[in-house]
Amino acid sequence: MATRTEDLTELSNIISTSIKNYLSHVPTPPTLRPVPPIPVTDEVAVEVADELLVACRRVISLVEGPIRTALMMSSGFQDSIAMKLAYDMKLAQNVPPDGSPIALAELASKTGVPEETIVRVMRQLTSKNVFVETAPGYIAHTGGSAAIGLPGVGSMVAHLVDEGLTSAPHVSDILRENEFVVPEDSRKSAFSRAFNTNKSYFEYICTDNKPLGTRFGQAMKAMNVVDGLPNLVALYEPLQSAPKGTILVDIGGGLGHAAIAAAQKFPNLKCIVQDIGMVVSEGRDELPEELKDRVEFHENDFFEGQPIGGPGVYYYLKYILHDHPDPASKKILSHIVRAMDSSSRLLIDEHIVEERMGPDSHKLIPFLDFHMLLLFNSKERTEAQWAALLKGVDERLVVERVWRAKGTGNGIIEVRLA
Ligand SMILES: C[S@@+](CC[C@H](N)C(=O)[O-])C[C@H]1O[C@@H](n2cnc3c(N)ncnc32)[C@H](O)[C@@H]1O
Repeated sequence: MATRTEDLTELSNIISTSIKNYLSHVPTPPTLRPVPPIPVTDEVAVEVADELLVACRRVISLVEGPIRTALMMSSGFQDSIAMKLAYDMKLAQNVPPDGSPIALAELASKTGVPEETIVRVMRQLTSKNVFVETAPGYIAHTGGSAAIGLPGVGSMVAHLVDEGLTSAPHVSDILRENEFVVPEDSRKSAFSRAFNTNKSYFEYICTDNKPLGTRFGQAMKAMNVVDGLPNLVALYEPLQSAPKGTILVDIGGGLGHAAIAAAQKFPNLKCIVQDIGMVVSEGRDELPEELKDRVEFHENDFFEGQPIGGPGVYYYLKYILHDHPDPASKKILSHIVRAMDSSSRLLIDEHIVEERMGPDSHKLIPFLDFHMLLLFNSKERTEAQWAALLKGVDERLVVERVWRAKGTGNGIIEVRLA
């Protein structure tokens, strides 16, 4: 594979061809300026962007050399700490949103943080194009720093630098204590240890810390809207010809972003969003008026049962099973299977991990796989692991088709009951 080459000249050719191809498939050339981000949805652009990033990372590894690579990998946490400090000091909110610069002294007086400390944080961040020093002592936003202030994206940044970063140091203890076997119990995760609770992440944010739950719901909604990843509507064609009144149950659907998009695109669908805790009432409150007769929010714990049955129902699970180790995932699936008949379909919308590891694996997969480990003791799964999980629930579950999104690690696994 070309991206595994060690030849810098070959890599430079790949990069220059990819850039030309990329530019001809995006509406505007990318910029570091703080303009509203335009999600890249063109399939070719998404695929080429991935190849380009892989080739660029390869060049960095080759040119950095082995010692710097090892040291940089071992100190990657410093980027997260710098982002956390920027978040805690409210730096993004206090820099002008229009991209004009602010003097460091003024930023210090607005935030109440000593200028010297701001400089230390900015030194880290500007080295990765998050904020820019426009002239000595003057700081302005780049797109990367402005994104921290975008509604929802800011919630995801906060989730990562708070729950993620706080949990991270505990994972090595959890694994060492268990002879490096990942415990198949979300209540024994690095998150639970870090937050001093014997609850799982979702139990905790539904009971002990509801503001974290609200923040997480907003973060998931934003990620679904802004990250440009293909969604149910774009990928799963059969919904177009579903008969009028067909029910789609969005299990653990959060604020209902996927169900709302499906209802908007397909007038034939009736959507039921199931979730727990405050997210149900928050979703109801945010529902557009014109969809109130076709999108409903129901409180339902997916560990307790699946009350919606009948012929032709679509059961949709997006980013649910990756939050749960195999035993809990099997429990969730077994309730759905009990509600299914041969005409219903189970749609699992998740990342599908490539069998081969390496620089060409999709960029989100290693990141999310570790995030699942930290928060839930769970994992991203390969196609074979998905198939094994389904067979472990019920031998009659058959994978009808995998609808893969080009250029991303995402896909919808369509499952029926034989
Ligand atoms: C990772 S989020 C995915 C949300 C949404 N499907 C999406 O893709 O954006 C997991 C969702 O599962 C919900 N959830 C967690 N535990 C649940 C349970 N026991 N029963 C029902 N929903 C649950 C959470 O509230 C959250 O909305």
